[in-house]
Order: sequence, then structure tokens, then C-alpha cells
Amino acid sequence: MNAARDAILLAARNRWLGEHLPRYRFVRAMVARFMPGERMDDAVEAAERLAADDIPTTFTYLGENVEDAADADAVAEHYLELFDLIEERDIDAEVSVKPTHLGLDLDPEETFERLRRLAERSAAMGKHLFLDMESAAYVEPTLAIYRRLREEFEDTGVCIQAYLHRTPQDVADLLAAGASVRLVKGAYREHGDVAIHGHRRIRATFEKLALEFLRWSGGGRLALATHDVQLLTEIERRAAAAGFDRDAYEIQMLYGIRSADQRRLASQGFRVRVLISYGGHWYPWFMRRLAEHPGRNLWLAIRNVLARH
Ligand code: FDA
Repeated sequence: MNAARDAILLAARNRWLGEHLPRYRFVRAMVARFMPGERMDDAVEAAERLAADDIPTTFTYLGENVEDAADADAVAEHYLELFDLIEERDIDAEVSVKPTHLGLDLDPEETFERLRRLAERSAAMGKHLFLDMESAAYVEPTLAIYRRLREEFEDTGVCIQAYLHRTPQDVADLLAAGASVRLVKGAYREHGDVAIHGHRRIRATFEKLALEFLRWSGGGRLALATHDVQLLTEIERRAAAAGFDRDAYEIQMLYGIRSADQRRLASQGFRVRVLISYGGHWYPWFMRRLAEHPGRNLWLAIRNVLARH
């Protein structure tokens, strides 16, 4: 299944496919599984439905690798509007952003300034702002921006990918700084020089890092962002044995994936948060979701096509 994952992740970066595939109705129908809609209002309405089950949310406006500064400015303005709406509707929601969506490819300093404005607005509402982690080339600049943001705004967090060889050292540094971390397995196609390959090894590293974070945390939030419920059960067992309660960490999942488990875990006293993505630029993000579970997702795609003909 690794070959299928690789092929889908290659296709995720193909410009021609990115322009053509989203035109097909069956592709749009599949996206609906992972995304409540393209508009900000669609995301907010989905968050209100989740709130009925006591599940707070994180919003991400989809897009990455913008091509000019005006586009990056427009993304920052969009997020400022989103903060206004979160405040107006009084939703328990925070925001997570991709640095390349705010211009990291163009100018790191301007990106920092845009993120600074978002962190300031988020902190004024008493909420965390999170930085997503993108492919390996962006890890160093993302962490550099993160460290600068944290000098001013304690309530900022960063995503860390268990599959990278460098991650244990990054986690040690972040722990020493009392940072807030969202731990994920990692969603990109990375070379063996920079990342561990193999599901079992990545899982084992995720588990080890989660427990290390709990043991040595300097006060930052820890979010375990995974749909791997067996892994979560194992971490809970080992965390309990080490004296940690269920509320020592959060569980984060994506909208539309393992929704029944999200509700079950929340009802069992875990702190569950769901990340809702929305927006028109969903192609590469959607392809990464397909690649995470190619067998099932491709079968659903084929069934969809057959049902329509
Ligand atoms: P795994 O892939 O082992 O799946 C476990 C089970 O969950 C599967 O058997 C299946 O049932 C279900 N499942 C998982 N993914 C599915 C899918 N796409 N479709 C259908 N079923 C699926 N990555 C990154 O590099 N940078 C980031 O900033 C983030 N941010 C982020 C935030 C949040 C809240 C989450 C949950 C995930 C991310 N990720 C991410 C993605 C992450 O790196 C990883 O690719 C996915 O979470 C898939 O791995 P899992 O650990 O969920 O388990």
C-alpha cells in the first residue's frame, strides 16, 4: 500500500491534476466527506453541531504555497474575519494555519508579521494559535517563526511530525521551552534520509514521544492528533500507569474521520477537539487525506463513480 500512498502524494503536487480533478463531480462528492463546505459559514455551522456533543474545534482555511504577497495578505485578512466570527458566535474554537499559506516561500519576515497579527488577535481572545507543519523543507523556518512568536505570545503551539528523524531533538527543545505541541504521525512524502518509513516504526515513535512529553512537560498543552484508536488506548494505558489522568492531554481528529469515536471518547471524559478544514483550495490537502487510507478511500471513489453510471 506504500506504492499507492506514494503515487497519491505525487499526484497531490501535480499542477495539471490540481486544476482538472476538482472539476469532477464525484471528486467534489468525496471531498464532502472530509469538509463541511467551502465557506467560512459552513465551517462555523459544523463547529456548532460538534459543540452540541461538547466537542470544541480548530479551524483551518485551506491553501498553501501562495504565489504573491497580496494573496498572503488576503489569507491573513480572512483569518482576522474568522476570529471576529468566532467571537461573535461565541464558539469554543481556535485556529491552525499553514505558514506557506501566509507567504513563507516568498518572505519569512513578512510571514512572521502576518502571523504576529493573528497570534495577537488570538491571544486577545484567550485562545491558542497553532502552526501546522508542512513538508520537511519547511520545518526549520516554521520552528524559527514559532520560537519568535512565543517570545511574545505564550499561547501559540506548533505541530510536530513523529516520522522525522530530527523530531526527538525538536521535542526536547520544545519541552525545555514549555511549548504547546500537536503531535501527528506526518502526512507528506519524505525521503528516508529525513523520515522514518513504516507504519509500525512511526507508531512506536509517536507513542514514545507522547509519553516523554507527558513526563517532562513544562506546562504546555499536548494534543495527540491521530485517528489511531488502538495507539490512543495504548498511550492511555501507559499514561495512567505513570499517574496521568485522561485530561493531561487532548485528542484531536479531523472532521469526518472516525466521528463515532470522537463522540465516544468525549463521552468517556477525554478532551477531544476536531479540526475543521474549509475553503476552495482543497486539492493537495484532500489528496493527503486519500493517501492516508488509500485502500478504503479509493474503493469509496470507485463505488461513487459506479453508482453514478
Ligand atoms: P492512521 O493513518 O494509522 O489511521 C488510523 C485509522 O484512522 C485508519 O485505520 C482509518 O480507520 C482512520 N483514518 C485515518 N486517516 C484516514 C483518512 N484520511 N481517511 C479515512 N480514514 C482514515 N500532518 C502533518 O504533516 N502536518 C500537520 O500539521 C497535521 N495536522 C493534523 C491535525 C490533526 C487534528 C490531525 C488528526 C492530523 C493532522 N495531520 C498533520 C495528519 C497526520 O500527520 C496523519 O497523516 C493523519 O492523522 C493519519 O494518521 P493517523 O495517525 O490518523 O492514523
